[in-house]
Amino acid sequence: MADIVFDALTRWYGDTPQRRVLDDVSGQIRGGEFVVVVGRSGSGKSTLLNLLGGLDLPSRGTVRIGDVDMATLNDRRITELRRARMGFIFQSYNLIPTLSVADNLRLPLSLNGLPEDNRVAEWLDRVGLDGRQEAWPDQLSGGEQQRVAIARALIHGPEFIFADEPTGNLDLDNAERVIALLDGLCRESGRTLIMATHAREVVGLADQLLTIRDGRLVDAGAAA
Ligand SMILES: Nc1ncnc2c1ncn2[C@@H]1O[C@H](COP(=O)(O)OP(=O)(O)OP(=O)(O)O)[C@@H](O)[C@H]1O
Ligand SMILES: [Mg+2]
Repeated sequence: MADIVFDALTRWYGDTPQRRVLDDVSGQIRGGEFVVVVGRSGSGKSTLLNLLGGLDLPSRGTVRIGDVDMATLNDRRITELRRARMGFIFQSYNLIPTLSVADNLRLPLSLNGLPEDNRVAEWLDRVGLDGRQEAWPDQLSGGEQQRVAIARALIHGPEFIFADEPTGNLDLDNAERVIALLDGLCRESGRTLIMATHAREVVGLADQLLTIRDGRLVDAGAAA
């Protein structure tokens, strides 16, 4: 499993380099780690995740995935890297509303040219949604939709899972279930899980805690 190494990551918007939403953030994420990113609203957590996951480009600084410097890749290569080696989970689930649950899960398989085999049924079973193949996303509860989103993020076997506030819209019971699922599924297969969250109880599960305050990385282990 590849490491992610980021160096002096800095992001500003437009012509305001003095207003840095992320400022000189460096670190290393080892393959297979569970990394939790915490910090107040607006501190830069999503910005950091988006830069590490190739959804956004830094104004300055580098991200390396294994021995690949992301800045050397054109848009198409970055898309390919994301599609094959990464999975994304968001607060608002982001399932495709016009596709059934099963078709949502088929999407990453077909985009990567992978056979379906028994994978769709297997993954629905793993996330506790056996038998819901033909349901539409809006027929599922929030917790159920997020479990479909987890299956969709993992089904094609990516190395890196990025989860941005995956429990932000869930009640405590569903939040705990989603966290336990994500942690368990990633650990059993040695995947790297990078999660931004306000849920302090997740911190105890992390191998590494990144605390961000006003766009800067606070020393490891320090409270937000
Ligand atoms: N497109 C943009 N243009 C200008 N500023 C932006 C843009 N996107 C984000 N920002 C700013 O960057 C800062 C960091 O935002 P970010 O979304 O990374 O915070 P966050 O820690 O994820 O917050 P939350 O916990 O609310 O999700 C914020 O001040 C935000 O307003
Ligand atoms: Mg955010």
